[in-house]
Amino acid sequence: MNKNVLLIIGGGIAAYKSLELIRLLAKAGVKTRAILTKAGSEFVTPLSVAALTGEKVYDDLFSLTDEVEMGHIELSRSADLVVVAPATADLLAKAANGLANDLASTTLLATDKKVLYAPAMNVRMWEHAAVQRNVAQLKKDGALFVGPDEGEMACGEFGFGRMAEPDAICGAILAQLKNGPLLGKKIIVTAGPTIEAIDPVRYLSNKSSGKQGYAIAAALANLGADVQLVSGPVSLSNPSGVTVTRVESAAEMLNACEKNLPADAAVCVAAVADWRPDTQADKKIKKGANNNVPQLKLIENPDILAILAKAGNRRPRLVVGFAAETEKVEEHAKAKLTKKNCDWIVANDVSGDVMGGDENEVTIYSKNGAQKFTRMGKEEVARQLAQEIAKVLTA
Ligand code: C5P
Repeated sequence: MNKNVLLIIGGGIAAYKSLELIRLLAKAGVKTRAILTKAGSEFVTPLSVAALTGEKVYDDLFSLTDEVEMGHIELSRSADLVVVAPATADLLAKAANGLANDLASTTLLATDKKVLYAPAMNVRMWEHAAVQRNVAQLKKDGALFVGPDEGEMACGEFGFGRMAEPDAICGAILAQLKNGPLLGKKIIVTAGPTIEAIDPVRYLSNKSSGKQGYAIAAALANLGADVQLVSGPVSLSNPSGVTVTRVESAAEMLNACEKNLPADAAVCVAAVADWRPDTQADKKIKKGANNNVPQLKLIENPDILAILAKAGNRRPRLVVGFAAETEKVEEHAKAKLTKKNCDWIVANDVSGDVMGGDENEVTIYSKNGAQKFTRMGKEEVARQLAQEIAKVLTA
């Protein structure tokens, strides 16, 4: 994502979280320029902000050299979005009333871009009628808000006023900056394995790493889609700009997918366990006196792909399944297309090192035939697949 954010860092203890925010944005390809208010510089140093943004930090309205290099008007317009984090009661009051007596408030008045506020203050201050009035006014003027969260505060009190966590702020920023052919399209992606409990400490599962599904979720989000990733347990971090619901069992995965209907497309990449134990012991099963081995009775799990593809008028317009096979790839893929009522089956041969590896070689089967891709990295597979999905959803 090739975008720019102007981040105004106000004076609050939460300012340290803004450093992490800059790092997360950089990871998502968003460049940050920062204004550090005088109060903000009591909490974080201009040097750390400059090191993380890789840019000069702006902090004084009346610096003549800044006005020559980049005036406050230009500064407020050169970004795609203005973000205020932490947004203190003072900054909210200035912005709501149109004051312009320092660089931060002048920029907020001069900008022609959307402004996203991440408030951070003591719970009593947040609940004060004056602050609530200012927030209501700013919302009326078109401002966006993320947080504040409820929780323990640096001052020892408890309640609403904690600044939203950096990944939540980053998510809200990326949602605003999104554009591309899939803007406005909601896509469910399932990824990773499921685990099916035998007892509180043991389970049945499989070797899926989640890499391919996560890469597809990220690639679809990059094209502007509202991606709802339903993920089994994996050791991957959330892809930026994607909403993630973490689940364990197939039943939980199905439930989370159904909650996301209606959707424009569903891409089922998860390696859902085919079976689960018919009962789950609520206590750890102990070895018997004679070391007797417990006999597991397995029952079939719901087929999430088939259920979504047969959801009647709630069926997503495009339903994509995957088929990981070790033999007769084409034959099995075609059989699955019909049996599960999906539009495409993306088939791959997992007899080699595909599971857990970084590369994949896939073929898309549909009722119109087969489209074979050469072997490439899972991220490139994801990018090309996302483009094929965009072609269908924008047709
Ligand atoms: O039948 P098989 O497991 O090979 O089918 C694979 C496809 O079906 C994948 O897209 C997988 O995500 C999906 N699937 C599912 N729920 C299951 C089993 C498979 O969604 N219980």
